[in-house]
Amino acid sequence: MILAAGLGKRMKSPLPKVLHDVCGEPMLVHLLRSVKEATPPGTPVAIIVGHGREQVERLVLENPEFGELKIDFIHQLEQKGTGHAARVAIESPWGLKRVSENAEILVLPGDLPLISSNLISEMVRPLEGSLKLRALTCLLEDPTGYGRAIRKGKSISKIVEEKDASPAQKKIREVVASIYSFSAKFLSTELPKIKTKNAQGEYYLTDLVAASKGKCGILAWQVAEDVRGVNDLWELALAEKMFQRRIVETHARAGVRFLDIDSVAIESNVKIGSGVKIHRGVVLRGKTSVGEGSDIGSNCVLRSVKVGSNVEMKAGCYCENAEIGDGAKVGPYAHLRPESVVGREAKIGNFVELKKARIGEKTSVAHLSYVGDAVIGDRVNIGCGFITCNYDGKNKHLTTIEDDAFVGSDVQVVAPLTIGRGAYIASGSTLTQNVPGGDLAIARTRQVNKPGYAAKFGKKGS
Ligand code: UD1
Ligand code: CA
Repeated sequence: MILAAGLGKRMKSPLPKVLHDVCGEPMLVHLLRSVKEATPPGTPVAIIVGHGREQVERLVLENPEFGELKIDFIHQLEQKGTGHAARVAIESPWGLKRVSENAEILVLPGDLPLISSNLISEMVRPLEGSLKLRALTCLLEDPTGYGRAIRKGKSISKIVEEKDASPAQKKIREVVASIYSFSAKFLSTELPKIKTKNAQGEYYLTDLVAASKGKCGILAWQVAEDVRGVNDLWELALAEKMFQRRIVETHARAGVRFLDIDSVAIESNVKIGSGVKIHRGVVLRGKTSVGEGSDIGSNCVLRSVKVGSNVEMKAGCYCENAEIGDGAKVGPYAHLRPESVVGREAKIGNFVELKKARIGEKTSVAHLSYVGDAVIGDRVNIGCGFITCNYDGKNKHLTTIEDDAFVGSDVQVVAPLTIGRGAYIASGSTLTQNVPGGDLAIARTRQVNKPGYAAKFGKKGS
């Protein structure tokens, strides 16, 4: 049972709390992933939704990753507290079924993006003996904001929320993380009994600890990071940092060299091969993958880019939905826009922008060019300052350059246009017609030199 109906007022954002991103994916996705890893396929999952419920439901339903989870959404119309949310769920058809099966229910809040599948595996073990529930507790350096566990021997007698705690209780460092394993029957009999006599006037799920009258087991968790809740944007920033560190550590241990673990941002779906070197300030987002032995220079930003192996990307490239073949060299400061494909061992140099351009193997576009809506063959050389004039104000047109062509510097191609195989284009040409293979095209005005004429303009150049 996942509690995800709250808006998260403290986030000061219109986005429902569980949809806020941590390392590129919503908190709820991270949580569900851990649930999926730790539970058998077909485990019935209830997600309690309220604020932004369409958005939350869409996020889950549209993610094929969660196809094998059996998810029910339960609507909590008004958010009257965690105890109320759990009550709505236990009184729904989903909950009644669990009660009739005499099942045990793991309760998780939706705002724990760092929870590990390990922790969930431990929590879903059957309750021992006559226990009504098991609460997960953790010792925190700074327990501010969390419910404090009031110990009574090996059990806890009750939980006191931060806002209801006395100064002495506030000093208790053992907290609950809103992670419980409950007997479904206990939930259904006790939830209707809880009251709102507390500082927040809410139904507290935590009150069930006292209601169990000592029948509360404890899982004392050692990894404080796992249970870090996110209630505001500062806590979100801290969670991001911790999650990022885990991602980087996993890659580093798998053979990726990071020059500065603090300055990179690697999202959770990114794949990086071994022997890759990642320089300072690199941002890898979305479904980016980097093949073995590649080198990603400082401040490169890649968003869903497929980088082959042994690719060298120099500093400052920005690439999106593009593909870079094995052994290619890109940058510094190249801009690869969506649907660009750079062939094996090709070279895309500084200040080159590609858009929907297919660059063949061993082709070089080395300096200051715009190549948009183009198909360029293998072993083509494009000089400095080449421009595809692809847009006529209404439509985009294709430029085709066949294998082994040689295009001089400062050439513009008014598309649609084809340069044939092995053709030569003189520097400074503005092409408006096709160039057959093997031809030389010169499309510029002829130079005229006027002897001694410069003197007429003054003293210089006589
Ligand atoms: C809660 C616990 C606290 C614990 C902390 C751990 C209570 C009363 N307090 O406090 O003991 O230390 O989590 O992070 O349980 N929600 C609903 N419907 C509601 C209210 C909340 O679905 O009516 C959901 C929220 O969307 C959220 C979760 O329940 O995902 C927890 O609510 P939140 O307001 O964050 O509780 P905390 O103040 O953090
Ligand atoms: Ca919380």
